[in-house]
Amino acid sequence: MTALFITFEGLDGSGKSTHLRRAAEWMQARGLDVRTTHEPGGTPLSDAIRGLFLDPCWEQVDPRVEALLVFASRRQHLAEVIEPSLTADTYILCDRFTDSSLAYQGAGRGLSREWLTALDQLATDGRQPDATLLFDLPAEAAQLRGQSLTRRQSEGGLDRFDVETLEFYSRVREGFLELAEASPDRFRVIDSSQDVETTWDQVQRVLGEILDATES
Ligand code: TYD
Repeated sequence: MTALFITFEGLDGSGKSTHLRRAAEWMQARGLDVRTTHEPGGTPLSDAIRGLFLDPCWEQVDPRVEALLVFASRRQHLAEVIEPSLTADTYILCDRFTDSSLAYQGAGRGLSREWLTALDQLATDGRQPDATLLFDLPAEAAQLRGQSLTRRQSEGGLDRFDVETLEFYSRVREGFLELAEASPDRFRVIDSSQDVETTWDQVQRVLGEILDATES
């Protein structure tokens, strides 16, 4: 099995989803079989859980329930889409995975690493991506870019995370950076604070290095 499981992580508004789409086209042009997917979601059941997970109608969501929902969605996604695709030698580019839970539910909501790691073991056997691109920028910049509240409101409503505070997003950013520091072999940190083309140059270079390392 040579296909890789590559995840794109970062704050909302970090540009990861735009670059994931570009990366898929770029890899397909290199002749690779690529499937793009996202979390929470990626299967009909996982998308249904995503709806529950993000719905602002719940006034109080216990942080553990939040984590349980997202890991239930992930388990189904892993079993139904990710593992079968990799077995069929299709590269997976996934918008968010377990690192998002460690950053948002861990650093953001305050759940302990031990509890989240135990849940991750139960749900995914601790499955890790082969490589992770972290799109990093200050929380203020991400909020300005991706979370124009009036725009999101007019586009179909805010989700439970759109209304979180800058302090929350700053903790999430730090959480991501700590994860990257702890696993330098898996993580590649992309400076996403500049314009799209400058960021794309970095993405192309990093992906090229990852692919060359596995092809050689
Ligand atoms: P995403 O689909 O990336 O955001 P967008 O609304 O911009 O399309 O993710 C939705 C939200 O879910 C996002 O604010 C981050 C949050 N999230 C978690 O809190 N934990 C997780 O494990 C995942 C995958 C997402």
